[in-house]
Amino acid sequence: MLELKNLTKVYGQAESCHLAVNNIDLDVDKGEFVVLIGPSGCGKTTTLKMVNHLIEPTSGEILINGSSTTELNAVELRRNIGYVIQNIGLFPHFTIVDNVEIVPKLKQMDPKKRRQRTLGLMEMVGLEPDVYADRYPAELSGGQQQRVGVLRALAAEPDLILMDEPFGALDPITRDQLQTEMKQLQQKLNKTIIFVTHDIDEAIEMADTIVLMKDGQIVQAASPREILTNPANSYVREFIGEERLAPEPDITPVADVMVMQPLTVSMDTTPKAVLRQMQKHRADFAVVVDDAKRFVGLISANQIMRNRGKNKTLTKMLQTEDNTVRSHTTIRDATAALANEVQVLCVVDRKRRPVGLVSRTTLLQGLVNIWDESNSNAVI
Ligand SMILES: Nc1ncnc2c1ncn2[C@@H]1O[C@H](COP(=O)(O)OP(=O)(O)O)[C@@H](O)[C@H]1O
Ligand SMILES: [Mg+2]
Repeated sequence: MLELKNLTKVYGQAESCHLAVNNIDLDVDKGEFVVLIGPSGCGKTTTLKMVNHLIEPTSGEILINGSSTTELNAVELRRNIGYVIQNIGLFPHFTIVDNVEIVPKLKQMDPKKRRQRTLGLMEMVGLEPDVYADRYPAELSGGQQQRVGVLRALAAEPDLILMDEPFGALDPITRDQLQTEMKQLQQKLNKTIIFVTHDIDEAIEMADTIVLMKDGQIVQAASPREILTNPANSYVREFIGEERLAPEPDITPVADVMVMQPLTVSMDTTPKAVLRQMQKHRADFAVVVDDAKRFVGLISANQIMRNRGKNKTLTKMLQTEDNTVRSHTTIRDATAALANEVQVLCVVDRKRRPVGLVSRTTLLQGLVNIWDESNSNAVI
């Protein structure tokens, strides 16, 4: 839908010149929510302003639906792109409805349809039309004013919406609410949005694609998940913060993810009694241990069922392979040890006493949980 090609902006002349945006390439699909993020001065606003033709690129191209925008009339173009900034600049002497309808009027949309749409949009963001339609901006809270700013951008039915730190000036709780509303609105209306922020949590929460910039260049453009699990370099790692990064299978020990206190049974337990215990503990596996409580083997409910009526003792049914790992074994190594026929590994201590169980699912689920926990801690 939108393509930036070798886009560059140089401010100043000769020796004092400064590369605000340095040769960036970016493809944005229709309906995509792209978040530009990076430290102050890295070129986010300059990029947005070039897309909106508020400033002209020094070189490079901007294509919308495949056509270059350089030929287009800047004013016309801007009417088809919604733009929301921090100090939204509502007109103080216009009512809320009139503020929202500025561009639709310029575009000569049918008055009836126009009004219907405005009121519908107001409802969508919880601004009851009966209460707010005829009020003036000064009568609204900061968060409400910002919602009106968003509606004004949506009212002209633009294909593309640019938002430059739109919620930056709001208190954290209001900002949270607007983020959620914005994401819902975007999904409902299937709008393409480029959203600038320097708040990484905001980016992770909202983005389909995060574009991380530094000194006018794109360092990494990828989904939040990809960035969190696979940061391109140390700059990305640092910017995101170690506490948000996904745990690494290479270094996370199985002890962090295993199911603890596995069901253990002694070697002389009858298969039937083991099955009963499994039912009671809702376990599919039990660890068979010797008199010193050391690992002997694993037994599954399936194995016992398969051997039913054959009059075998428990030890005869056992998987006797050494399906054990130590607590400090990494998740990566444990996953490798889970061959096709081995579904479960027993985690044992130094004396081979069982301390936990892991399966492919626990390993995977464990990683996801650790990650979620570290993310929610980071937010608090
Ligand atoms: N009108 C201008 N004249 C000269 N330099 C500018 C101008 N606008 C921005 N810059 C510089 O360009 C760089 C990028 O700015 P900007 O795009 O506003 O960054 P961001 O929005 O990421 O904080 C900064 O170094 C800034 O000082
Ligand atoms: Mg900026």
